[in-house]
Amino acid sequence: MKFAKNILCIGAGYVGGPTMAVIAAKCPGCKVTVVDVNEERIRRWNSDDLPIFEPGLLDVVRSVRGRNLFFSNDVVEGIRAADIIFVSVNTPTKTFGHGAGMASDLQYWEKTAHEIVAHADRSKIIVEKSTLPVRTAEAMECILQENKKGIHFEVISNPEFLSEGSAVKDLLEPDRVLIGSRQTESGRKAAQEIAAIFAHWVAADKIITSNLWSAELSKLVANAFLAQRISSINAVSALCEKTDADVAEISFAVGSDTRIGPRFLNASVGFGGSCFKKDILNLVYICRSYDLNEVADYWQAVIEINEYQQERFVRKIIKEMFNTIVGKKIVLLGFAFKANTGDTRESPGIFVAGKLLEERAQLVISDPQALENARKELSGLDGSVEYEPDPYRAAVDAQAIAVITEWDIYRKLDFAKIFASMRKPAFLFDGRNILDHQKLFQIGFNVFPLGKPSLTHFK
Ligand code: UDX
Ligand code: UDX
Repeated sequence: MKFAKNILCIGAGYVGGPTMAVIAAKCPGCKVTVVDVNEERIRRWNSDDLPIFEPGLLDVVRSVRGRNLFFSNDVVEGIRAADIIFVSVNTPTKTFGHGAGMASDLQYWEKTAHEIVAHADRSKIIVEKSTLPVRTAEAMECILQENKKGIHFEVISNPEFLSEGSAVKDLLEPDRVLIGSRQTESGRKAAQEIAAIFAHWVAADKIITSNLWSAELSKLVANAFLAQRISSINAVSALCEKTDADVAEISFAVGSDTRIGPRFLNASVGFGGSCFKKDILNLVYICRSYDLNEVADYWQAVIEINEYQQERFVRKIIKEMFNTIVGKKIVLLGFAFKANTGDTRESPGIFVAGKLLEERAQLVISDPQALENARKELSGLDGSVEYEPDPYRAAVDAQAIAVITEWDIYRKLDFAKIFASMRKPAFLFDGRNILDHQKLFQIGFNVFPLGKPSLTHFK
C-alpha cells in the first residue's frame, strides 16, 4: 500500500511507543515506524507482551501493528524512508562532568542527530518529542545543517504531555498539543504539517503553535508547576500533623476555588516518575547558567520538599514503631511511582525501601505490575527483601504496612483478614491517604495517615 506520509519515531519508550500507536490509529494514511537500538524492547513491541504497561495500549497496538504501525531495530532504513522524524530518545539527568546531577544528558539526542545527517538523502522535518532544555533546537539545527548534501532539516518542538497510567487517554483527548517552530516561512509550514497529523483527531483550538523556545520551555514549566502543587500540599501536610488540621479537607476547600482547581492536590509520600525531578533539576540548571540564582532556588525548593516528605515518612515509621524496626517485617503496598503503571523510575518506594533496609527491617514488596522493576531497583541493596504480588500473603506475620502507591485494588482489600494475619500491635502508614482510616482503626490497626491526626490504640 502507498502511504501519504512516512513518519518515523526514534526511541520506543514510554513516550515514543504509545504516541506513535495513537498516531497510527488516527492517521491510517500514514506509515508509522518506531525504531530503537534496544532489540529486546522492539521484540516485545512486536509481541503481545508489550515492554510497558499502559491501560488500553495493547488494544490500540494490535489494531494497527502490521497495518500502518511497525516496530524495528533498523534505524538507518527508518531514517532513509522518513518524511517526518520524531525523536523520543531518553534525556536523563547527567551523572558525570559539568552539570552532573542537574543538567540533561543530551548525548543520545546528539548521537541521533548525527545519525539522521549521515543517513538522510532528502529534506525532512525533525520533531523534538523528548523533553529538552530550552534552546536545544539551536544546537540540533547546527548539527543537522552541517550536512554537505544540501538538504534542509526543519526542527520542530512538539513536547509530549502524556502522563503514565493514562497515556492512551491523554493521547486521544489531550488538553492541548503544542507545536513550536522557527517563525520563518519554512518553519511555519513544517509546524502546519505536524499540526495536520494531530488535526485528524484533536480540535483545532487545542492545537497551539508557538516559537521554538516557548515550546521547549513550556514542557519544563508545566512539569515544574505540577510538581510544585504536590510539594505545596505535602509541605502543608507536615503542618497539619502538628495542628490537627486535615490535609484532605484543606485540599478540598482550597481546590474548590476555581482559580486554584482541585487536581494535583493529593498529599503523598512524594512525587516520583522519570520526569518531574529530572525536568526541575534541568530548569534549575538552566536558571543558574543564566545567573538567575533566585529563580533557581525557588524551583529547587520543590525538589527539596519532595525529599523532605519521603524522609519524614520514613522517620515517622521508625518513631511510631518504638524507634526500632530491626527484624520487623514491613510490607510496602505498591512500588510503582503511581497507580496503573509498572514504572518505578524515581518512585518514592526506592527511597523508603532503602532507608528501611538500612534500619534492618525485613521488607516485603507487593505491587500488581511493578515487581519486575522493583527487583531491578533494589538489586544492589543489602538486607532482607521479598517480592509478593498477593497483598494478603505479603501481610502474614507483618508488623506494619506502608502504602506507597495509590492502586485502586488496595482500597478494596479485606483489612480485617489482613489484620488477623499480622503481628500485634499492627501499624498502617498510609502514604497516599487512600484507605478508610476510621475503619482500619476500628479493626484494630494503629493508623498513621498523611497530614491528618493519627489513630492509635496506645494509652
Ligand atoms: C524519555 C525521557 O525520559 C523524556 O524526558 C522524554 O520526553 C522522552 O524520552 P521515555 O519514553 O519514558 O521518555 O524514555 P525511555 O522509556 O527510556 O525510552 C527511550 C528509548 O530510546 C529507549 O527505548 C532507548 O533504547 C531508546 N534509545 C535511546 C535509542 O533508540 N537510541 C539512543 O541512542 C538512545
Ligand atoms: C508527568 C506529567 O503529568 C506529564 O504531563 C508529563 O508529560 C510527564 O510527567 P507522570 O510523571 O507520568 O506525568 O505522572 P503524574 O500523574 O504527573 O504523577 C507524577 C507523580 O506525582 C506520581 O508519583 C504521582 O503519584 C504524584 N502525585 C500526583 C502526587 O503525589 N499527588 C498528586 O496530587 C498527583
